[in-house]
Amino acid sequence: MKYRDTRLHLRGESLFSDDHSVPEATLMGAIVASPIARGRILTMDLATAKKIPGVKAVLTADDIPGENQLGNIIRDEPLLAGGELRFIGQPVALVVADTAATARRAAAKIQLNCEEDTPILDPREAFEKNSLIAEPRCFQIGDPDGAWADCAHIAEGTVESGGQEHLYLETQNAYAVPTEHGGIKLVSSTQSPTAVQRNTAGILGLPMHMVEVDTPRLGGAFGGKEDQATHWAALAALGAFHLNKPVKVLLDRWEDMRFTGKRHPYSSDFKIGLSADGKILAYQVTFYQNAGAFADLSTAILERSLFHATNSYFIPHVKATGYCCRTNLPPFTAFRGFGAPQAMLVIEAAIHKAGGGMGIPYSRIQEKNLIRRNDLFPYGMKARSGNARASWRRLKSMSALPALHREMKTFNAKNPLVKKGAALMPVCFGISFTSTFMNQANALVHVYTDGSVGVSTAAVEMGQGVNSKLAQITARTLGINVERVKIETTNTTRNANTSPTAASTGADMNGHAVIMACGTILERLKRFAAGALEIGPHQNLAVFSERVFLGNKPLAWDWQTLVRNAYLARINLSAQAHYATPKIFFDRETNKGRAFAYHVHGAALITVELDCLRGTYRFELARIVHDAGQSLDPLIDRGQAEGALVQGLGWISLEEVLYDEKGRLITDTLSGYKVPDIFFAPREIQVDFLSRTPDSDGPYNSKAIGEPPYMYGIGGFFALLEAMKAFRPDLEPDYTAPLTPERVLTALYS
Ligand code: HPA
Ligand code: MOS
Repeated sequence: MKYRDTRLHLRGESLFSDDHSVPEATLMGAIVASPIARGRILTMDLATAKKIPGVKAVLTADDIPGENQLGNIIRDEPLLAGGELRFIGQPVALVVADTAATARRAAAKIQLNCEEDTPILDPREAFEKNSLIAEPRCFQIGDPDGAWADCAHIAEGTVESGGQEHLYLETQNAYAVPTEHGGIKLVSSTQSPTAVQRNTAGILGLPMHMVEVDTPRLGGAFGGKEDQATHWAALAALGAFHLNKPVKVLLDRWEDMRFTGKRHPYSSDFKIGLSADGKILAYQVTFYQNAGAFADLSTAILERSLFHATNSYFIPHVKATGYCCRTNLPPFTAFRGFGAPQAMLVIEAAIHKAGGGMGIPYSRIQEKNLIRRNDLFPYGMKARSGNARASWRRLKSMSALPALHREMKTFNAKNPLVKKGAALMPVCFGISFTSTFMNQANALVHVYTDGSVGVSTAAVEMGQGVNSKLAQITARTLGINVERVKIETTNTTRNANTSPTAASTGADMNGHAVIMACGTILERLKRFAAGALEIGPHQNLAVFSERVFLGNKPLAWDWQTLVRNAYLARINLSAQAHYATPKIFFDRETNKGRAFAYHVHGAALITVELDCLRGTYRFELARIVHDAGQSLDPLIDRGQAEGALVQGLGWISLEEVLYDEKGRLITDTLSGYKVPDIFFAPREIQVDFLSRTPDSDGPYNSKAIGEPPYMYGIGGFFALLEAMKAFRPDLEPDYTAPLTPERVLTALYS
């Protein structure tokens, strides 16, 4: 099936929230943001701004009718800073005016007189000063302290990884309309309509049922709208509430880059111990997570780092510790992979360093330690499949690695200034929210009297193709053509108490809910048809290709006749269903449990060609063997794998988020912040799906796809290190990401 939005996107006909027409009376909001990273407001002059023609209101913390409080895990963040300022870009006031230009002009006129303190920007400094957002977490298995004595080789080191800008094409925005009885209707570009609803209700002092949130498609999110879409929606609602007029807030690119949080930078220490033949016996890792100024999702992200500390490997003795460090930068937030990429970079670096020290190719250590079926992860869950090894083997057999390495050696010997490198990257990613209670979704399905079907779920379409998958699941379950199915917007009035579309679970959980709701309707229809047609038990009936079948025999009724007759017989053609991922649990005291429904496995080969005169490079080949279960839609899954790979490569090579010593974002434009483009992407990307007996609980044996392939990009980091080493064999690898051309060049000639 073709991705159903392709045509709309190509023709520019897709409607993002800013494209929906709004009443002429709509007012526009602009944000006044903190100019300092740490300190307090002494005085604030609002009078000048208020006098500007067209300005309708300037709202501050004092104007919040409910609680000036945001937060989905820890409620530590004000919507508008009261007195204390915690990061540059923190919202302080909202200006509402008749045009966006006027609102921004007025916002720029607002003078903040502040007292400034020295900001904390570095997570290790925050740790030293006990500036932690939560208690440290520690996952442990075996006897990590005792195991070192048995190790023939021990390697230690540190790893730094940088932030990453989400750069969704559609910037953050929301639109609020006042409704009867003092309520609010919001159109919000969010991954989490329920979080927007709950937080906005709290800000306005309303019960949740007075706030309706509707989410049409998103122009990208990547995690950046899981938590941080809420602020702009709540601000638009605040403006609408005060002025009793529709208010829209739309960040421009520069504001979006400066105000919103990014991927968490991590600073980490590792120690790894191996037997003489390369078995990893013990691994110890400490993550210093730069969480930024407020909790946001940082504790959950740190938890996912701990879950993924050992990536695809079985290690008997492990101790992984995480510190959630509060600094004076914009709160870092969810980003594809949700802390797992940061953790996987560290274990790969540890193995790389151990390989260097032992004088063996590190891919041999990787291979030797891949997790097997029934091996334990450090959190006590058993691996459900042998797909870690199966994908690795398949990748190796496809790639003729010995020949590839020979060719590279010859090439490198012949070319003094151009060097090639290659690396393998296995990935193992757990599917489920690590907070068990979040693993629930619901669907509301209406079959209309003409046989068309409307489906509402908790899933948000953000370009990942979830609507295509849900339409396909609906059609398959009901036995009808996919053209009959419409996937509705995500709306809190139709789907209540939903989890964010995140953790790669959107198609899984909502797909299951759709199967359940469609199953209920189909059951009623079959019961009715069995009675009306006077044929035996209804279980013998099926709907297939738009026709009712008795066993293999097609009957006279097609889908439309079935539906019309059922309606006339007053059969309920609507159903709601709730899905809760079965069999998962996790104990946060012992840090043990079956935390995930299943794991997604895979392996990638990445090669790079490095210009050692300039430090510039080009990834040449990315070959991936990926376990997608029985893919619901291979075209969508391929797109997700390719996009994720390139985004992961960007993170470890090109994309550098820089702040100055005052905590001001330096890389706040696209001329200073480089993201991958088509010329940066590997010359050749091959994605092969591992077709084996699926070990998944996804709908129709499919597997989640959104996040796991991102981490294949980490292989690019080590391919680069290998190429650098070919130029300079004495080079001690520095595990600092991103490996920008500047950093490569400096390392080659320092
Ligand atoms: N993934 C994504 N988002 C989340 C999670 C998670 O595991 N937990 C809480 N929010
Ligand atoms: Mo995602 S980073 O779970 O939105």
